[in-house]
Amino acid sequence: MDSAATPLAQAVDASASAWQPHIIAFVCHWCTYAGADMAGTTRRIYPPNVRILRFPCTGRMSPLFILRAFEQGADGVLVSGCHPGDCHYVQGNYFARRRFAVFRALLEFLGVDPRRLQFSWVSASEGVKWARVVEEVTQGVRDAGPISPWGRVQDHGRLALVRFASPADQAGRRPGEDERAPVLAELRRAASELLSSGRISRLIGYGESSLPGKIVPVFLDNVADASVLAWTDGCSANLAAYLPAAMRSGKVGIIVKSCDSKAVVGLLQENQIRREDVVLIGVPCTGVRVNGRLASKCFNCDGQVSPLCDLSAGGARPAAAAMGVQVAVPPDVRDADVGYIESLPLLDRWNFWQNQFARCLRCYACRAVCPLCYCETCIAEKHRPQWISTSIDGKGNTAWNVVRAFHLAGRCIGCDECSRVCPANIRLDLLNRRLAIEVERRFGYRAGQDAVASPPLASFRQDDSEEFIR
Ligand code: FES
Repeated sequence: MDSAATPLAQAVDASASAWQPHIIAFVCHWCTYAGADMAGTTRRIYPPNVRILRFPCTGRMSPLFILRAFEQGADGVLVSGCHPGDCHYVQGNYFARRRFAVFRALLEFLGVDPRRLQFSWVSASEGVKWARVVEEVTQGVRDAGPISPWGRVQDHGRLALVRFASPADQAGRRPGEDERAPVLAELRRAASELLSSGRISRLIGYGESSLPGKIVPVFLDNVADASVLAWTDGCSANLAAYLPAAMRSGKVGIIVKSCDSKAVVGLLQENQIRREDVVLIGVPCTGVRVNGRLASKCFNCDGQVSPLCDLSAGGARPAAAAMGVQVAVPPDVRDADVGYIESLPLLDRWNFWQNQFARCLRCYACRAVCPLCYCETCIAEKHRPQWISTSIDGKGNTAWNVVRAFHLAGRCIGCDECSRVCPANIRLDLLNRRLAIEVERRFGYRAGQDAVASPPLASFRQDDSEEFIR
């Protein structure tokens, strides 16, 4: 027998080189941990590069654990649990499988080599498989090489020249001012009627700020205030972000564009608002401008009043039967930019995103305007334990932006408010869009369409694809 071919010999050979990969394996207590134990008791020999951390179930696995491992210098991470159908908690690994798929796609989009993050199912009796998985994962990480220090640009000579397609260069609709005056008159009339009849105690709409031409959200409690309502192409804000808090003081009316109504669908899905406590006033939208240009989100939006709305100002209300029906829409202009990033080599992608994240001020404006960010205490502000550093540094900024994007996977309705308000002009819209593409491709789900559908990462199908799991 050729001893040079044995795993032990390979391990000894590898140890002779200067660099050895450090791999963290998160394994579930009930299957893979026992499988690894089986490998030991049966004296299987495999590379000693893996440090095992036991936890209850893959369903308990949080992307925060993976990020922390990379932050602390792990070259690779392996997550392993029970085979589908064998989970001690019945469904934990089905939910985990969806989260793994999306998180893996996110890290790859950020420029992390997919060989560094791997998943497997290993049962308690599969000591042989565990040894094989560790060998394969170790070899993959070895081929990928030492990981770049997390949260830092690497090799400045390889910064890609990033050229995005500008929405202004794309053919598309332009906001039509002449269509807005009759809509505004109807909005004011509807607001007056709702407030005077007592059907709502507050109305959320748009109004002119003290800065000329600047439109801001306004909260009206009196009929006399209805005249301050405005409806221009500057009405970009997604007013649904204010809905959960406003509804604590009674029944609320809200003016919704097509994109805003998708956020309302998300809030209903996640039980953040009660349908009977909100009156939705739909407005047909011909597009809004951001920095003088038609917003990217408007190019593939039909601007129609949602069938979810109770009232419609200036446009027909589609039949309720149309709710939940996914209609064909033109390609999203953001997809060209997502495709461009994906065409870059991994190192250039990494450098691009690290440059973006390095500008983050941690002002959390993105969170404040997001209609689907409603947690009373955000994970970014939890200190015991502190999973996301609050320091404005590479690791903290990377963790924050990755976790923010992941928390919105399958939930983001693509209103791009986070990008609009970001003072550092970070392309958060591309992170959100990349995950929306992944979710739609894998699970056939588009956010903001159906108020009674289960969010894709809070549900599963037994036959979900798992081509990336060993
Ligand atoms: Fe092993 Fe759930 S208990 S994956």
